Amino acid sequence: MEASSLNISINADNAIVWHEDRLLLLDQRILPEKAEFIGFDTPHLVAEGIRQMVVRGAPAIGITAAYGVVLGAQLHSTVNPENWKEGLSMDMQLLAQSRPTAVNLFWALERMQWVIDTLDEGDNPVPLLLQEAQAIHQEDIAANRAMGELGAALIEGQTAVITHCNAGALATGGYGTALGVIRSAHRAGKISRVFADETRPWLQGSRLTAWELHQDSIPVSLLVEGAAASLLSQGGVGWVIVGSDRIAANGDVANKIGTYNLAVVARHHGVKVMVVAPTSTIDMSLASGNQIPIESRDPGEVLSCGGKRIGADGVDAWNPVFDVTPAALVDAIVTERGVVHSPDAKKMAKLMA
Ligand code: MRU
Repeated sequence: MEASSLNISINADNAIVWHEDRLLLLDQRILPEKAEFIGFDTPHLVAEGIRQMVVRGAPAIGITAAYGVVLGAQLHSTVNPENWKEGLSMDMQLLAQSRPTAVNLFWALERMQWVIDTLDEGDNPVPLLLQEAQAIHQEDIAANRAMGELGAALIEGQTAVITHCNAGALATGGYGTALGVIRSAHRAGKISRVFADETRPWLQGSRLTAWELHQDSIPVSLLVEGAAASLLSQGGVGWVIVGSDRIAANGDVANKIGTYNLAVVARHHGVKVMVVAPTSTIDMSLASGNQIPIESRDPGEVLSCGGKRIGADGVDAWNPVFDVTPAALVDAIVTERGVVHSPDAKKMAKLMA
């Protein structure tokens, strides 16, 4: 459905909308050409929407899954008011299987489960679960605003920055993690230009990040990932600023494939790396990044571009969609609880205590 037909303003902060007992997701696969919402009535369809990248980005996936649980609660408590928990539990398992790397998904489902545990069969679960999903959504926006200020304070003087993938309003409840810092820093006069990696194969950088920044009148230049080393060698870029899908207990950072390359190149050129992520992205149950499950997607995503086959017939492709940047290459992890400089296990434990 056209976003305009719903009387909902079309901007990146309105990508996840609870509207008349339905979940509306701005279809991120067709931006920036078209801004259209897809309406979701069942958790099965929400899980499929997450898998198919209608919504993507770690915090946004978590928020979406939480609303998916509300849809399941509506369904099961209507059909089976005295025995809704079993059906809802199966729906939650389905949501948990939608994508493996972003820990925010599992974190949000756990929060919804805590609410379910306070309820009895026969209770109406919908009001409390909707309240919890909306709290998860609003808390994420508040965390992004707080991180925006904390991250911007780390930037001295005016500089260009580079970012990878999309860690903006679209990837979160609103405002963004990495783009939240960039927005706050830009408002403070500290950002001369943002260089956005286009981010093969889904092109989140060109289709989403550049779109968001351009809408906010923040100067942005696209570049192919392979151009980052040349750019950083020329000077003028003060920070690499990225989001994360999961951070291990030792500070290792999983993020969109190519982040690791960028961090290596940045260290080589003396450019600092800032990772911006809410504490819902930190997984203290994993000692290090090599335990983070890395999603592999269809090779066809690499073998084609814009719906057109670009790989020769018979050629295969390797398509891991996240990588792990070792903590040693990260200068600062910015969370809503504070900044961890040169992260390690001890500092991460102190933050999360
Ligand atoms: O595959 P995606 O588009 O879900 O990957 C998103 C990213 O890697 C983002 O950079 C990450 O989730 C940080 S989002 C605030």
